[in-house]
This record gives sequence, structure tokens and C-alpha cells, in this order.
Amino acid sequence: MRRLGREQAARRAGRLHTSWDDLELVNTPRGTRTTFLLDRAIGYQASGITMAMFEIAPGRAQSMHRHPGEAWLYVVEGEGHSYLGTEPEGGTDHRWRKGDLIVVDHFLWHQHFNDSAEHTAKVVRIHMFDSLLETMRALCDPLVLFEEPPTAVRDSQAGDPTTVDWPALERPTWP
Ligand SMILES: [Fe+2]
Repeated sequence: MRRLGREQAARRAGRLHTSWDDLELVNTPRGTRTTFLLDRAIGYQASGITMAMFEIAPGRAQSMHRHPGEAWLYVVEGEGHSYLGTEPEGGTDHRWRKGDLIVVDHFLWHQHFNDSAEHTAKVVRIHMFDSLLETMRALCDPLVLFEEPPTAVRDSQAGDPTTVDWPALERPTWP
């Protein structure tokens, strides 16, 4: 009970607001640029939920990977498709556009593609991290649970994000 009380106090003392105006997107090895919206890395104390926004350059893709936690992806801008499969090949493609939601189930291989040749795509992803990940990590140790293809394959899928002329970040408008 004391532990739960301490955790509750810590969560309520954590950060509670992320302003769009403060967001800064940085390039990642997976070929996108990304920013945390809610994560312990930026002062939040939420219970295992992490939220980030990533942007895919025109005609480009995020490199393939899989992880134990379920992920929900909400499309803020753009259009594209996502590969989902129990293996890196032979799965299914799911088309999406602004306003759509994609669900990536636990430990599925997945890759997100921007199908526009002119515009970037912005996706907000919510990921349940701690509880399942930590349990699986303990049960499966020393198996590595975050998986990507070999670096050369990852890099060929991701491309070099420093070669992209990223547009200025602008607060979304609806519709
Ligand atoms: Fe993912």
C-alpha cells in the first residue's frame, strides 16, 4: 500500500502538459524525425504509457522493427500504408490517411510508409511500454525483445534523414 501510495504521488507530481509550440523533431536511425509527447524522458510519470510523434519524409519509410508492447498510431497528417506481419515478409499492407488509426499488435513486424511524393506524413504513436515489456524481458532473458533487421538493411530502408528538406513544424488544423 505504501509503494502504491508513493507511485501515485510520483505520477501526480510529474509533468502534465506538452505544448505543440515547444516540440522539436530530431532525426532517428529508423529514417524518420520524431519527438516525445509523453515519456519519462521528458519528465512524465505515467504508468508505462509513452507517446511520441514521428514524421516520414515524402516517398520514404520508417525501417521495419518489432517490440513486445502494443502500439496505436494516429495519423495527424498525410497518407501512406503500414506493413504488419508475423514475419518480415508475407504479411499484409494497410492503407491509411489523415484521421485514421492503425493498431500494431504485440511483437508483430511492422513498417510504415509515406505514399505521398510531395508531403510528409505525421503519425502520433501511443505505446504501452513498461508492464508487458518488463515482464516479457524477465521471462525471456537473455532473448532480445526489440528487434530490427541487420544494420545495413535498416539503413537501406530508412535512408538518410539528413538528406530530407523537412518543412517547418506547424500546429495541425482540422479538418
Ligand atoms: Fe514500432
